[in-house]
Amino acid sequence: MESAPLLAAALGVALLVSYIWQRPKHLIPALAGSENPISYYIGAFQFFLHGLDIVQHGYTEHREGVFRVPRLLRWDYLANGPKHTAEMAAASDDVLSFQYGAEDILQADYTMGLEVTKNPYHQHTIRSSLTRNIARFLPQLHDELVCAFDDVIALPGNDWEEINVLPNMMQVVARLTARIFVGLPLCRNQEYLNLSISYTVSVFGRAQIIAMFPSFLKPIFGRLLSSRRSSMRVAMKTIGPVIQERLAKVDEFGPNWEDKPNDLISWLVDDAQGEERTAPAIALRILATNTAAIHTSSMTITTALYDLTTYPEHIVPMREEAERVIRAQGWTKSAVNNLRVHGSGPFSMTRKVVAENGFTFSNGTFIPHGILPEPYYENPEVFDGFRFAREREMRTVKDGTEGGAFKHHMISTGPDHLVFGHGKHACPGLRVCGRLTLSLAIIIGPDPKGKILIRKRRGVRRGYRSFCVC
Ligand SMILES: *[C@@H]1O[C@H](CO)[C@@H](O)[C@H](O)[C@H]1NC(C)=O
Ligand SMILES: *[C@@H]1O[C@H](CO)[C@@H](O)[C@H](O)[C@H]1NC(C)=O
Repeated sequence: MESAPLLAAALGVALLVSYIWQRPKHLIPALAGSENPISYYIGAFQFFLHGLDIVQHGYTEHREGVFRVPRLLRWDYLANGPKHTAEMAAASDDVLSFQYGAEDILQADYTMGLEVTKNPYHQHTIRSSLTRNIARFLPQLHDELVCAFDDVIALPGNDWEEINVLPNMMQVVARLTARIFVGLPLCRNQEYLNLSISYTVSVFGRAQIIAMFPSFLKPIFGRLLSSRRSSMRVAMKTIGPVIQERLAKVDEFGPNWEDKPNDLISWLVDDAQGEERTAPAIALRILATNTAAIHTSSMTITTALYDLTTYPEHIVPMREEAERVIRAQGWTKSAVNNLRVHGSGPFSMTRKVVAENGFTFSNGTFIPHGILPEPYYENPEVFDGFRFAREREMRTVKDGTEGGAFKHHMISTGPDHLVFGHGKHACPGLRVCGRLTLSLAIIIGPDPKGKILIRKRRGVRRGYRSFCVC
């Protein structure tokens, strides 16, 4: 306890040093806080509590501009409007880096491990192999989705049941992810599924804590806070033996052995080089990949369920639309492209400026090296599941082509449509809308404790009715 004042003094010095270190030398408007250290930290604290409101206010004040917000140890920059977004999407990876931006948010050096961030080969594996195979996986995903819903949300009779949305959706999404990543029967191993979920939750949770430390303290606290050892133990017990077996097969029969499964384990075994070619190293890449997939998809589907149950007038028309498209096209990629989604988040396209000379927008606005700029897409206050459908119809009439130049499909992106980010690294991500939303700084997501009532649809073999109880 005698060391408490010393620790407080050390923290004070650390905060002052990091304040001086990151003090901006240019004149982009700040939304809260200012150049003097006291108001800077008060601003950072306000942002921690009211981040979403502050960003929303900045959006209305600077519709086509760039502004910055104080975080505990740095300024973050937000670039508004389609023009800035298009310029950010067009910048190359060695100027604006998606990877380093995401690693900053996940504090991946400490939550996952330096080997993952120093040699992110698994990201190339995902981009090439998963993208190539995604159409082929849709029937399997559909199969797994049906089984997972039956297992996770077991509804014995025809009565209404109350369910916790987020934990159940995480179980469903973990199953779907596992079907592609590790295949049957492992994808139904409850111990592995629990690990996938707890690792994901722990990476995001710990990252928020580690981010509060100045960089020179991160290696110490990062290691103390890491769940790596216990996670790896469960990983080696559940998926370790299968990885080991795949490695042995390649050693014995070469890379194209007969009946080689088409899943993430095989792709990683094919791509891993040198010291990465071991079962624990490959297991770690699978956990790291799980994190991105499970977090983003479970947040998205939870938000969608909150939206649908809060605004139930959308349920029937959207179900009819889905049934019509699937009847005509089956569970195919083009069918999924024809479904629609809604939602948007405040920080949709994080990048980190990695070019030594910083990044300059075409109008001269300068963002320095090491900074995270984010384009901001308006967070509509009112849920309207038909907004994009109406606009598409309008443009179809105007341009005389299907949807005209306007392509707001479920998985398309554009400079004015950042639901999934935009550019090469676009992906389905954490999006918010409706009234069941929590916000703490920019950690924004659907309420993790939200519940809905759900029951089987009468006269339908599979299908559910649901409405919101919160
Ligand atoms: C140019 O940058 C400034 C600085 O933030 C901004 O306020 C302004 O709106 C920008 N103009 C255009 C046309 O992008
Ligand atoms: C998985 O997690 C659930 C919910 O936390 C728990 O009830 C169950 O016992 C766990 N199963 C295994 C095999 O660890």
